[in-house]
Amino acid sequence: MLKHLMSPMDMSVDELRDLMELAGRIEADPAKYSKICEGKILAACFYEPSTRTRLSFESAMLRLGGQVIGFADAGSSSAAKGESVSDTIRVVSAYADICAMRHPKEGAPLVASMRSTIPVINAGDGGHQHPTQTLADLYTIYSLKGGIGHMRIGLCGDLKFGRTVHSLINALVRYPEISFVLISPEELRVPSYIRDDVLKAGGIPFEEVEKLEDAMPDLDILYMTRVQRERFFNEEDYLRMKGFYVLDKQKMTLAKEDMLILHPLPRVNEISIEVDDDPRAVYFLQAAKGVFIRQALILRLLGLA
Ligand code: NCD
Repeated sequence: MLKHLMSPMDMSVDELRDLMELAGRIEADPAKYSKICEGKILAACFYEPSTRTRLSFESAMLRLGGQVIGFADAGSSSAAKGESVSDTIRVVSAYADICAMRHPKEGAPLVASMRSTIPVINAGDGGHQHPTQTLADLYTIYSLKGGIGHMRIGLCGDLKFGRTVHSLINALVRYPEISFVLISPEELRVPSYIRDDVLKAGGIPFEEVEKLEDAMPDLDILYMTRVQRERFFNEEDYLRMKGFYVLDKQKMTLAKEDMLILHPLPRVNEISIEVDDDPRAVYFLQAAKGVFIRQALILRLLGLA
């Protein structure tokens, strides 16, 4: 049984399918699940800014009838006094039944999980992984396309620092006939631990290109990402990169009729708001679906479904 969730690789393709089916049942009949977590507490320990992930975890637990405690920035927790993640989680284990943790340091939730007596969910660790965003991404594709596989997937933007991209690639390579177009400026290409260790080692077809327009016509899914300002070493480099891609109506004329545009959000300027009304733009729906899949995950980790 799944004990913690650190990476999307912690779940097999079969387990992921079961989880997405459960999310589908919750989405279809939320009332049926509205009391199942009565008496249970989720601790949301967020050492780094977040809107969607924290609120969607909180909303997921509240919609299951459970309760929520936690902190939304490291400054308001004892981390500001120098407490280690290991000590914090030992205490949190006594206060809650499950913990979602976001941390700027890669691996911090993993360290916590080793000390924890309750399930720990990695809610994003530095530029590394973001498995529950991946669950939301997979569930969106699965529910809107009727399954996952036989798809050409474009990932565009900051592929170097974007942890959602790293987790999503890790998860998708296990599905049949997936090919990738990695669309980024030279400086923001995917790290070698993805390009070499995951894509090349797995014999997964992929291309790296700089121009979005060139990739557009063949894509089934376009996953846009923002340039990760907070992970740049200097502001000048960020400013040079931030306007590199802007998806607008004009570029959308090149896309297939049924291509889906996903984005983990927050959006900065990489998708023009004029695209929001296009039926292929599903990023707000994706954020909504993120709650159902987190409900399913909480139930699984607590052994309640
Ligand atoms: C993402 C993240 O935190 O990595 N946001 C999210 O959780 N939806 C993407 C981002 O911040 O760009």
